[in-house]
Amino acid sequence: MKTLFDTTTLRRHTLKNRIWRSATWLALADAEGNVTDEIVRTYEELAKGGAAMIVTGLTSIIEHDAEIGGGAKFYDDRFIAGHKRLTDAIHKHGALVMMQTAIVDGPVDELTTEQVQGIVRLFGDAARRAEEAGYDGVQIHAAHFFYLSKFISPLINHRTDCYGGDQRVRTRILYEILKDMRSKTSDDFIITMKINSTDEYPGGLTVQDFLVSCKLMADAGIDAIEVSGNGTSHTGIKAGRNEGYFSAAAMSLAALVDVPVVLVGGLRSIEKINQILEETQIQYVSLSRPLVREPNLIQRWLDGDTNPSLCVSCNTCYRTPGHQCIFNLRKK
Ligand SMILES: Cc1cc2nc3c(=O)[nH]c(=O)nc-3n(C[C@H](O)[C@H](O)[C@H](O)COP(=O)(O)O)c2cc1C
Repeated sequence: MKTLFDTTTLRRHTLKNRIWRSATWLALADAEGNVTDEIVRTYEELAKGGAAMIVTGLTSIIEHDAEIGGGAKFYDDRFIAGHKRLTDAIHKHGALVMMQTAIVDGPVDELTTEQVQGIVRLFGDAARRAEEAGYDGVQIHAAHFFYLSKFISPLINHRTDCYGGDQRVRTRILYEILKDMRSKTSDDFIITMKINSTDEYPGGLTVQDFLVSCKLMADAGIDAIEVSGNGTSHTGIKAGRNEGYFSAAAMSLAALVDVPVVLVGGLRSIEKINQILEETQIQYVSLSRPLVREPNLIQRWLDGDTNPSLCVSCNTCYRTPGHQCIFNLRKK
């Protein structure tokens, strides 16, 4: 029987429990996209707080990307040293860390085949750089209508070359990114992805499409798949009532593939998390807003205070400086 505090392994790395910190863009990078002291401090606090695996906020791997405000960048070797400070700070406290590699936005149908191949290589180069910077792995960001999720969406991708067609062909870019990343990193390097279970738009990605994409990536050797959706951060979540709003899709996936499935979205209580782990084939759970409110939540649970997360799912953290919790800012 699986429980929250089981130890597991991913590619020879030991995870001390089944909790991931889901990617959370901090809006704290400097104007060039460099890691700042405040970013290092925030991740160190999270690492002390007990999550086994920390996924960084989305990090742009292409030079001329759409701006998201304070987003970290990683399109050149000159960014490596800053990220090494971040990974060292996390590793000191026994957590693992993956960079969430992303392109924020860009054209899909207008690119030539060669330009798409160029994008594939940029992701591979970012993975090579991430390993040099001390990351244990990367997460390919293919969710939330950021660039790669548009690429695999029938709503956006109308290409007629080898990167467009049915869902398997639309997934080709992810498959090639995985292969390119593997060719540029060691056997220990963890490569995962985060994906929409649906786009929540008419004509967009359906659960059936999501399963096709994930099966292909599982067969190609992805190490884990984090299941999200375009509704991303639902409000009005109450512990014991409506937690885990992507769990149906994640359960379908976990029944279909052998690779670990990671559930994100509205998980707030140890009881619900353990119930999911006990009753389904989902291997890991991932938390964002609860760890914005309480970076030490997992340690609190380990110490015996098993009350649910204090997060009220108001989403004000999307608008505060450094994406901090409004309740914590009020205390200062
Ligand atoms: C302030 C903020 C920033 C976020 N940034 C990212 C991001 O960079 N990449 C990503 O995949 N998801 C991002 N998310 C979504 C979370 O990772 C997560 O999928 C979502 O909030 C649902 O989980 P939760 O209920 O535990 O918060 C962000 C969420 C918040 C609140």
